[in-house]
Formats: sequence, structure tokens, C-alpha cells
Amino acid sequence: MSFKTVAASKTTITELMIPSYANFGGKIHGGILLSLMDKAAFACASKHAGSYCVTVSVDTVDFMQPIEVGELVSLHASVHYVGKSSMLIGIHVVSENVTESTVRNTNTSFFTMVAKDKSDKPKEVPGLILETEDEVKRFIEGIERKSMRETYKKGIKALREKVVPMQNLDKLEAERCQVNLKK
Ligand SMILES: CC(C)(COP(=O)(O)OP(=O)(O)OC[C@H]1O[C@@H](n2cnc3c(N)ncnc32)[C@H](O)[C@@H]1OP(=O)(O)O)[C@@H](O)C(=O)NCCC(=O)NCCS
Repeated sequence: MSFKTVAASKTTITELMIPSYANFGGKIHGGILLSLMDKAAFACASKHAGSYCVTVSVDTVDFMQPIEVGELVSLHASVHYVGKSSMLIGIHVVSENVTESTVRNTNTSFFTMVAKDKSDKPKEVPGLILETEDEVKRFIEGIERKSMRETYKKGIKALREKVVPMQNLDKLEAERCQVNLKK
């Protein structure tokens, strides 16, 4: 089994936010950021795997601060955890206004990427050499994240099976909706 360091696949993509990336309110579209995050995750994962990779899952992405046209957005990607063919890639997004010399941490998210072989089958990736205490912490968090994701998925499946609409109308009493079913 081969091993690679976290440092060997660390990736940063920096991109200028141009007017065509903006919505009508003049702020950058969330979808543009998601696309850039996916590119950074792909670059980092494929460097680690030494092969083509696909995006399998994206953890919650919260856009807490708007990004303006003219800012420089940097996406820092690194491998936090590896399974057999999957890799958990952490993406940290930083937005910089160069004229005002301000830097903001915009958001952090986690992409699960899977390495593929030439027949499109999942392919084993190198193990991870953990060289700092922070890398050890992130790897252990990765194990926990995987288990939390599995628990969440089971919970959502159970919820979808459990909710029978007409037997749960009492839950809507304090909500801002009207039930007005069409015949
Ligand atoms: C995800 C995919 C690779 C799974 O293939 P599979 O033949 O079912 O393979 P496996 O069940 O062995 O899963 C492979 C790995 O993916 C992981 N995986 C599968 N589904 C997952 C999910 N929903 N979330 C996180 N990880 C997942 C498995 O845990 C496994 O990891 P491991 O090898 O580290 O243990 C396959 O379904 C696929 O190619 N999906 C399309 C991906 C794609 O096109 N993405 C771009 C979207 S536009």
C-alpha cells in the first residue's frame, strides 16, 4: 500500500470575481462558488489519487457572507481523510478585497470524492501520512463525519417513511401555511 502526505496534494485556486458571476443584487452567485469549490476538490483529490475522480457528496454549504464583484476568492483544498477509494476534501474559502486590504473567511465545506480507474470502477487511493497534530485531528474528525453522515441518511430515510400527511396536520397549526387541497 502506498502513502502520500497531505502537503503533496494541497491545492489553492484563486479567481477574480467578474461581473458575469453576479446576480441582480450585484453579489456573486452561490452556484459560481459551488462550481469553484468542486474544481478545487477535484484538483486536490486527483493529485492525491493520481487518477480521475468524481464528486459523490457535498456536506452542508452555508453562505454566511456575500462576495462582491472585484474581490479575489481563494479556495484552499486539502485531503482530511481517506477511505478505500473515497477522500474527504476540506475546502476553505477566503475572499480578499485588494484595494481595501481586507480578507474574510467566507465559508468551509467538505466534498467526498471517489477515485475511478479506467473502467469507471472505484479505485484504491494512497493512504495519508499525517505530519502535524492538526492533520491527525482532521483525520479523526473525518471518521466521525462519515459516521454522522450515515446516521443522518438513515434518519432522513426513516422520516420520509414515517410522515403520513393527513395524520400530521396538527404539526402545521403554528406554521405559516394554509392547507387548501385541490379535489
Ligand atoms: C459514487 C460511486 C462512485 C459509487 O460507486 P459504487 O460502485 O457503488 O462503489 P462503492 O459502493 O464501493 O462506493 C465507493 C466509495 O464511495 C463511497 N460512497 C458511496 N456513496 C457515497 C455517498 N453518498 N456519500 C459518501 N461516500 C459515498 C463509499 O463509501 C466508498 O468509499 P470507500 O471506498 O472509501 O469505502 C458511483 O455511484 C458514481 O460514480 N456516482 C456518480 C458520481 C458522479 O458522476 N459525480 C458527478 C456528479 S455530476
